[in-house]
Amino acid sequence: MVQKQSIILGIESSCDDTAIAILKGNKILSNYVANQEIHTEFGGVVPELASRAHQQNIIPVLQKGLKEANCSLSDIDAIAYTRGPGLLGSLLVGSSFAKGLSLGLNKPLLEVNHMKAHISAHFIDDNASTPKFPFLCLTVSGGHTQIVLVKSFLEMEVLGNTLDDAAGEAFDKAAKMMEIPYPGGPQIDQYAKTGNPLAFPFKISNMKGYNFSFSGLKTGILYFLRQKVEENPHFIQENLNDICASVQHTIVTILLKKLTKAVKDYKISEVAIAGGVSANSELRKQLKAKEADGWKVHLPKFEYCTDNGAMIAIAGKFLFDAQQFGELKNPPSPRLKF
Ligand code: KG4
Ligand code: ZN
Repeated sequence: MVQKQSIILGIESSCDDTAIAILKGNKILSNYVANQEIHTEFGGVVPELASRAHQQNIIPVLQKGLKEANCSLSDIDAIAYTRGPGLLGSLLVGSSFAKGLSLGLNKPLLEVNHMKAHISAHFIDDNASTPKFPFLCLTVSGGHTQIVLVKSFLEMEVLGNTLDDAAGEAFDKAAKMMEIPYPGGPQIDQYAKTGNPLAFPFKISNMKGYNFSFSGLKTGILYFLRQKVEENPHFIQENLNDICASVQHTIVTILLKKLTKAVKDYKISEVAIAGGVSANSELRKQLKAKEADGWKVHLPKFEYCTDNGAMIAIAGKFLFDAQQFGELKNPPSPRLKF
């Protein structure tokens, strides 16, 4: 007998993207993201404006998602939402919306951890490849930088963390110093393409074990730019490509150093990356090059790198399969533990 494939609605609202996806089995039927342009002029996410924009976007995004998937709400088997970590006001919009749907449709609720969901996105069926357990995942976003040992769909252990800024934050803060609008990570990636990564050497931090630190780099870039601009007010414009390439090279080197240590220590060569920074072309290129050393590298499809509803839906599917249901009384959790 062929078993019916579950249909899961995934709702993501942890930061500044309002995202909804519909998943059938491991296949995405629709995946919509409404980005919030409003934050660009402030140089970073303004929490109150983010919550307000989520309120405005969430119904239209759901309607588009249902239409594209050719689904109605009555087809949905369960509702997965981001319980945390994230901004409280943003999480409140998605969680209240998910609870309302769960109550109204009488369908189970699935509480998803945003960081685990970034990793789970690798199991959506249209990625180039799927990692095998156990694997190591470098999870790099605007709020987190972690090396995770992934033992199964639901069993994941954090081996290392950033002790201060996240990798995405390091990109965004460096960009801000060069007056590149928020979020600066993707633009640094673009400018770096024609720059010399060795033009301006910045210090590579080395923390204990598998931990990271990016605050020293941030200060290093700030002092470097300040001094150079004092000598030549046009220094940034004249050297933008080289500065971006050098900053990117330093961040990628810091990330790969620790990941390489974990690969050696744990003798696991199955490696994946996840989170917004996994869209970075230099990180992807350098990781791919590691295949020459015997690594099996898994790069997520671009649309599953930055925040999206598809990753929440697939992480929810694993909870649904394990019958680990959420509860209506549970509040969102901005610092939800891994
Ligand atoms: O996972 P994500 O969408 O949101 C969080 O959970 O934080 O990650 C957003 C972060 C931002 O810091 C953004 O600048 C960074 O990912 N990012 C990139 C690239 N694309 C997104 N950083 C470097 N290169 C990119 N191509
Ligand atoms: Zn994220």
